[in-house]
Amino acid sequence: MAESLIVEGSNKEERYQALLPQAEALIAGETDLIAALANLTAALAMTFDWLWSGFYLVKGEQLVLGPFQGPIACTRIPHGRGVCGSAWAQNRTLVVPDVDAFPGHIACSSAARSEIVVPVHDAAGRVVAVLDIDSTELDSFDAIDARHLEALVAHLSQLFPVAN
Ligand code: SME
Repeated sequence: MAESLIVEGSNKEERYQALLPQAEALIAGETDLIAALANLTAALAMTFDWLWSGFYLVKGEQLVLGPFQGPIACTRIPHGRGVCGSAWAQNRTLVVPDVDAFPGHIACSSAARSEIVVPVHDAAGRVVAVLDIDSTELDSFDAIDARHLEALVAHLSQLFPVAN
């Protein structure tokens, strides 16, 4: 695995294009889920100036806090609650331009203004985690983020055991 990350690009499309092959290399051959997720959150935090980026892992009927970069966060989120629990329940990426306008938003940090949550699937297509990213700015996320972050998490499916 590479031991350094090259951060380049004058806009987010270019930054994602620089990040994605490096992120793939970071997790290639790594079989430990936490190790891979931890390095991915670090790579995201090194590339972008976000407030918080991290994973919540599906455990029973809850999401439980996994590897992240940023301030301390809520540890458990019920199915269907908040942006994270809604993205899990609806099995789709949610882009929230203004968290105060999202009914049921869970404010882990009062500094968060906008958010994107991307479901992570196992090889059988089940949602097994979500990637959650928060920004201190309103309207930070759009279809560019959704497309690249979905491509990023698609590489994670082989790290999750497929349940029967
Ligand atoms: N805001 C999220 C909770 C997680 S924190 O942002 C890290 C939500 O509404 O699900």
